[in-house]
Amino acid sequence: MHIPVLLKETLDNLQIQKGDRVVDATLGGGGFVKKVCESHGVGVSLIALDIDEDAVLRFKDTPGISNCKIIFKIANFSDIVQVLNEVGFDNVDKVFFDLGLSSFQIDRSGRGFSFQRDEPLKMTLSKDASREGVTAEEIVNSWSESVLKTIISSYGEERFAGRISKGIVEARKRKPLKTTFDLVEVIERSTPKGYRRRKIHPATKTFQALRMAVNDEITVLERGLEGAFEKLSNGGRMAVISFHSLEDRVVKRFFLKKEKEGEGFRVNKKPIRPEREEVESNRRSRSAKLRVLEKDRNFK
Ligand SMILES: C[S@@+](CC[C@H](N)C(=O)[O-])C[C@H]1O[C@@H](n2cnc3c(N)ncnc32)[C@H](O)[C@@H]1O
Repeated sequence: MHIPVLLKETLDNLQIQKGDRVVDATLGGGGFVKKVCESHGVGVSLIALDIDEDAVLRFKDTPGISNCKIIFKIANFSDIVQVLNEVGFDNVDKVFFDLGLSSFQIDRSGRGFSFQRDEPLKMTLSKDASREGVTAEEIVNSWSESVLKTIISSYGEERFAGRISKGIVEARKRKPLKTTFDLVEVIERSTPKGYRRRKIHPATKTFQALRMAVNDEITVLERGLEGAFEKLSNGGRMAVISFHSLEDRVVKRFFLKKEKEGEGFRVNKKPIRPEREEVESNRRSRSAKLRVLEKDRNFK
């Protein structure tokens, strides 16, 4: 099951009201949509999107949501403007992004997001790998050592990026890397023994980096934020939960820019972090940061 992170804090800060048009740009397990639906019923209109069709198909069958007005879309949030145009929404009042992966994707998608399961090296957020255009398998088996190093070091902030990319290139000369365990083995072989005794698994950062490259996550996020802001009504709010520093930096910079340009203001100057109790009951929440922006009421 996917446990939503910072749900109460998100709802407190979005201040959803009767009549609002609310977008959940990252439906996932549907925790946010379900809560909004329970609290507001037909008083609000919801548009829920996810790039992963499994998320949408699974959530559609959730008991108790049939009384709410929800439009579902299988789409990348970088296309949020087109998606909202298609459903006839000139503007919306609240937009929510809860970035990253759902527990379903890590545990059950079979697409190689977890280094703890032996699965094909895909890492595509959508089920149909051809939408992303590239898989992790193609990246590790055909991209040059220097590009691999750049990706692993910039997206993964991995200090052993050089050794790992060299290890990948040497290993693939013998046999193409096909599965997550093939890659984990190379990472473990390429990094110092002490690295394996640390709290985080030595493959964590490389896996994050490859997933970000496959799904072009930084560019997609920038486009998603711009699109959401464009569609936001004056006085409308957007909330974003990020789980690592690169994503959070994009959100922080975007919100600051909007504030500097007088187009909106940050509802909280500092990101909202989960309370200790939440981190203890849901470890996934430990790195979460929530930022909220309000669009200027007189925006032209
Ligand atoms: C952390 S989960 C969301 C969890 C959800 N808020 C809940 O409470 O259950 C993130 C979801 O966002 C989706 N996602 C990630 N990037 C996306 C993108 N660019 N466009 C649309 N959905 C995306 C993933 O497929 C995943 O299902």
